[in-house]
Amino acid sequence: MTIKRLSILGSTGSIGQNTLAVVNQFPNLFKIETLAAGINVELLSQQIQKYQPKSVCVLNEQTADQLKKISKGPVEIVYGPAGYEQMASFSSVDMVVSAIVGAAGLLPTMAAIRSGKDIALANKETLVLAGEIVMHEVREKQIRLLPVDSEHSAIFQCLQGHRRQDLDHILLTASGGPFRDRNISSFESIQPKDALNHPTWSMGKKITIDSATLMNKGLEVIEAHFLFQIPAKDIQVVVHPQSIVHSMVAYHDGSVIAQLGIPDMKGAIAYALSYPDRLPLNQPVPNFFDLRTLDFLPPDLKRFPCLSLAYDACNLGKTYPAVLNAANEIAVDAFLHNRAGFMDIPRWIEKALTMHNPKDAMNLDNIVLADQWARTFVRQWIKENG
Ligand SMILES: NC(=O)c1ccc[n+]([C@@H]2O[C@H](COP(=O)([O-])OP(=O)(O)OC[C@H]3O[C@@H](n4cnc5c(N)ncnc54)[C@H](OP(=O)(O)O)[C@@H]3O)[C@@H](O)[C@H]2O)c1
Repeated sequence: MTIKRLSILGSTGSIGQNTLAVVNQFPNLFKIETLAAGINVELLSQQIQKYQPKSVCVLNEQTADQLKKISKGPVEIVYGPAGYEQMASFSSVDMVVSAIVGAAGLLPTMAAIRSGKDIALANKETLVLAGEIVMHEVREKQIRLLPVDSEHSAIFQCLQGHRRQDLDHILLTASGGPFRDRNISSFESIQPKDALNHPTWSMGKKITIDSATLMNKGLEVIEAHFLFQIPAKDIQVVVHPQSIVHSMVAYHDGSVIAQLGIPDMKGAIAYALSYPDRLPLNQPVPNFFDLRTLDFLPPDLKRFPCLSLAYDACNLGKTYPAVLNAANEIAVDAFLHNRAGFMDIPRWIEKALTMHNPKDAMNLDNIVLADQWARTFVRQWIKENG
């Protein structure tokens, strides 16, 4: 493998830091060209010192000024939407790691695709919002869009060496989150600290709440639908509490191929960075004698309505997935700030989906407008009823 020059969007987040941990292990294979973060200037300045990127981007002018005061060296510091797109399309970059959280990741990722960069995609929201356009442009530009989400990386790996026409369906595994066995009668009283306590994965706050509501799995169904061009009805969610089987693929002859590993994002990140090579990561393989059993259960859609709302949005198509995602982002933020209860999250998303006037999803302006509409709608709803 020749040296790969990277841009990491979201370098201060959980995926961003795990990506840099992989880079640390293979300094001869990767070079950091640009970094982008939100507001964590302390960590970003440490990353600048260590990786010496040419250019970095932060959220706004005020944050850029703070960073300029504490960072050393000749790095260029930019900010805002144009800055993120600049990092994503930087001329010397070979691959962009898209790991900003939420819909904010969409436009920088689009900019990277349009400038012909290969993408390691963690930001699932990019495909949820604009899957049709993204996949169209990926084909036009003939770039590689490699999944970082562990389930999608697993599916991608299970598809290698098999004929696409032999695929029957996908089995998308889910840990079930911290409330897998909790009685529905106590769901209304769930607090953010309970929901932030994920049993198997260590992740950013937003995705951890999404894992607790199973919206994360819903977003992943939509992500898989676009990425693997498969109808939602052929994507079956399987609750697997141990998070060892990262997902499976069933073929027409009844054979099922699974990908297994310990629950650590570095495996999926490294595979996206080095595909088709496999890096000697020194990750332990699961200890099957300690594990002894692996469990598989159907998801309970009554307790976790976010998952059925995501299937609905996927089946309805158009701008419905964008509305699902935006309504979820606002509702999760309100929950994290104690302005909403846990079960308000699906309630408000359902309301937004019901009231939405859908538009064609092959138009980026329609998607951005639907996203903005849903945010305003849910914010207003919280104001009046929260
Ligand atoms: N964590 C996982 O294990 C995991 C697994 C699969 C997929 N993913 C996906 O990967 C993405 C990142 O997740 P994460 O868990 O790494 O999130 P995270 O820990 O919350 O990190 C988010 C990153 O995005 C930056 N950011 C936040 N808001 C931003 C904005 N408006 N504009 C630009 N940058 C912004 C943050 O910067 P500051 O911190 O500097 O503000 C941080 O670098 C999500 O789409 C998630 O669904 C994550």
